[in-house]
This record gives sequence, structure tokens and C-alpha cells, in this order.
Amino acid sequence: MTIRPMIWDGRILRMLDQRVLPTQESWLELKSSADVVDAIKTMAVRGAPAIGVAAAYGMALAALHGEDKDKAGAKLAASRPTAVNLFWAIDRIKSMPTWEFETVLAEAKAIEAEDLAMNHAIGRHGAELIGHGWSILTVCNTGSLATAGHGTAFGVIHTAHDDGKQIHVYSCETRPRQQGLRLTAYELLKEGIPFHSIADGAAASLMRAGKLDCVIAGADRIAANGDAANKIGTYSLAVLARHHGIPFFIAAPSSTFDLSLASGDEIPIEERSSSELTHIEGVQVAPDRTPVYNPAFDVTPGDLIDAIITETKVFSRPYAF
Ligand code: MRU
Repeated sequence: MTIRPMIWDGRILRMLDQRVLPTQESWLELKSSADVVDAIKTMAVRGAPAIGVAAAYGMALAALHGEDKDKAGAKLAASRPTAVNLFWAIDRIKSMPTWEFETVLAEAKAIEAEDLAMNHAIGRHGAELIGHGWSILTVCNTGSLATAGHGTAFGVIHTAHDDGKQIHVYSCETRPRQQGLRLTAYELLKEGIPFHSIADGAAASLMRAGKLDCVIAGADRIAANGDAANKIGTYSLAVLARHHGIPFFIAAPSSTFDLSLASGDEIPIEERSSSELTHIEGVQVAPDRTPVYNPAFDVTPGDLIDAIITETKVFSRPYAF
């Protein structure tokens, strides 16, 4: 494995700063749970499974420094609202019988190792859906940077490529944070997977031109009816895929499911700062005082999703998990 978003190193968490990729490979040294909260909020680490793993290590740092378990958990849980993996990981640590550092750290390491194993299983199941020579559209970054390694939707692409399927990827830029252009392109280049990056608005014409065989996206939270929250713009891709008769797949581990929610209507959608739209790399591109609506995620209804690929099996409609 070549790319890792974070590495536990004795008494600190080393984290690859995704805000400055791909032009700089800079590692942060997180020494406290507050450092981890800040890294998640500011998106030095992002991607649903990766923020779950980061929060687990944040809890280990809290235990190391004798912080109150519930207070540390609450601060970490308030860092971002949509990806359920964050709350899943914090709750898993909180429900342990002891708050002793070595035990909490061992659980955080287990969460990380399990995520990596789940992604390889997702890749295996998903690759069976991919035909030889297919062109695949993906959005955001769902690769090693977004997980403990290998990736979810990217994991399917990765495994299909390793299987020699001669696939080609179209990777959406993913405005406003450009996770596709900055991070997925970085990973595709490192893995030697053939691809083109595209502007988000290019997806429809690619489909109309017959240049795509499927769409694969990750998820931040999946409700009991199969509705799936993912990066803003994913819903549009699902509508476009259905219109053009192209299969639309979601790939996610069990830690992304929130079966306490009947539908995606109940998933909290994060709204981020207006500067993510009005500025690019710190340079203002919109008029002063431009009013902005900037939801970070949208919900794709389950009936637009042709399959949900998990580590245990591939689910198809109507969804019952
Ligand atoms: O805002 P981000 O970058 O955290 O959003 C990430 C996504 O939307 C991913 O597609 C999702 O977390 C799945 S990652 C395996």
C-alpha cells in the first residue's frame, strides 16, 4: 500500500495534510484530541471512513492525556455532521469497558485495520460488476486518502484495474473543494490507472456520447431504505445515469450505514463556508457580498441506485439490509 492518510507514531498521530495535496506532501503532528478535531473540521483529513479512524485516534490521544471520555467524544462528534462513520467510531470507543490508553489505542488500531480489510472486500465484490474495458465515472475522493487504505468506490476501481480489466476512469473535479481533481487524480496517477479528470458539468455530455459504462460513488451515510448521502453533485450524476440507461453504484462499508434513519430525509447535511465558493486557492473570484448556499453533500434516493456494494455482499433494489 503506497498511500496512507494517517499513521500512529508512539504518542502522536501523523496526518497527511490533504488541504495542500497534490502540490505538497506535508505531514501534520497531532498531539491532542483538540488537534484531531481541528484537522477534521478544516478537512486536513476527510472522507467518511478516514474521519472515523481519525476520531478513534483522537479518542486515544484523549485517553493518553487523561481527558474526560464523554467530553472528548462530544467535541470530536461536533467536528462534522454528515458522515456517520465518525459517530460510529466514537461510540465504539466509548462503549469499551475501560478508558485506559493502551486499550483505547488498540481499539483505534483495530478500527483502522478493519476498514482496510472491508475496503479490499468491497473491491472484490464490486469488481465483479465491472466489465472488461469499461469506462467508469467517479466523483469526489473515495480512495486510500478517504479511508484506511484501498478505498471504497475507488477500491472497486483499484481491484478491477489490478484484475487486468483495462478500465478507464473519468474523475469529476468535485467543486468546490476539488477532491476529485486534487486527490483522486493524485491517487490514480500513483496507482497507474488510466483516467481523465473532467469538470463536473461534463458528465452529461460524456454519457450522451456513449463514453461511460457505469458510475461509482462512495457514501457518507446510508439510510435504511437505501438513500445515500455523498458529496454534493452525486445526486445529479445518479439522475443523469438513469436518464442515459447507465448503471449507478454506491460502494460503502457497514460503518457507513445508519439503519436508525428510515430515509435520507433524516440525514443531516453539512453546510460549509461561503468562501469555499467565492475563493479559489485563497483568491477571490466572486463579487464582494455574494450570497452563497454551500451544502457539502446531497442525498441520492435509493431507487436511483442500481447496487450498493459492501464488504459482505452486493445489495440490489428494493433495499433491505
Ligand atoms: O467532504 P468530504 O471530502 O469529507 O466528502 C467525502 C465524500 O463525499 C466521499 O465520497 C465519502 O466520504 C465516501 S469516502 C470513502
